[in-house]
Amino acid sequence: MSNKINAKASEHILPPLPYAANALDPVISARTLSFHYGKHHKAYVDNLNKLVAGTKFANLSLEKIIAKTAGKATSTAIFNNAAQSWNHSFYWSSLKPKGGGEPPAVLKKKIEASFDTVDACKKELATAATSQFGSGWAWLVLDGTKLKVVKTSNADVPLTKGMKPLLNIDIWEHAYYLDYQNRRMDYVDAVLEKLINWEFAADNLGQ
Ligand SMILES: [Fe+2]
Repeated sequence: MSNKINAKASEHILPPLPYAANALDPVISARTLSFHYGKHHKAYVDNLNKLVAGTKFANLSLEKIIAKTAGKATSTAIFNNAAQSWNHSFYWSSLKPKGGGEPPAVLKKKIEASFDTVDACKKELATAATSQFGSGWAWLVLDGTKLKVVKTSNADVPLTKGMKPLLNIDIWEHAYYLDYQNRRMDYVDAVLEKLINWEFAADNLGQ
């Protein structure tokens, strides 16, 4: 009995969204959010739980699973589902209703030291997002003492390259296709202007 409870308690859970499903409308519609969160994100979490059950990866945190499976051909499916579970939770927090605008002072100073201006940083994020061929992610990261924009393919996450993620933008088609069809640039521009959560990035900076 107690084992059963423990096993259940150690399962990865789909964390609640940090806002209502219609809170990002009209930039990201409730319909997109309900599929993206309720179907895609949920499937990564469910698949991960199935894949790790009874393996040496059971009972490990997402971060530990990601670190132990990155680049290992024998555990690609576990890596993909663990990283996508992590990436999506991070993405929901990278957005907020009435986001955009000016970053908090500490982050702004750091952005200006690395990119000159906040606009230049946003432009790099937009370029990374629109130039990624196929599915992936655009990220603002802390790399050593500097901020950088990087893009990753599919489930890849900068955590595995020793970089500290500050925020991300999902550029898989499932993130925008219902609202923007093939216009990825319009989705990314709207996210950067109206939803990006600079406070979350500043918190992740930890300074
Ligand atoms: Fe996604």
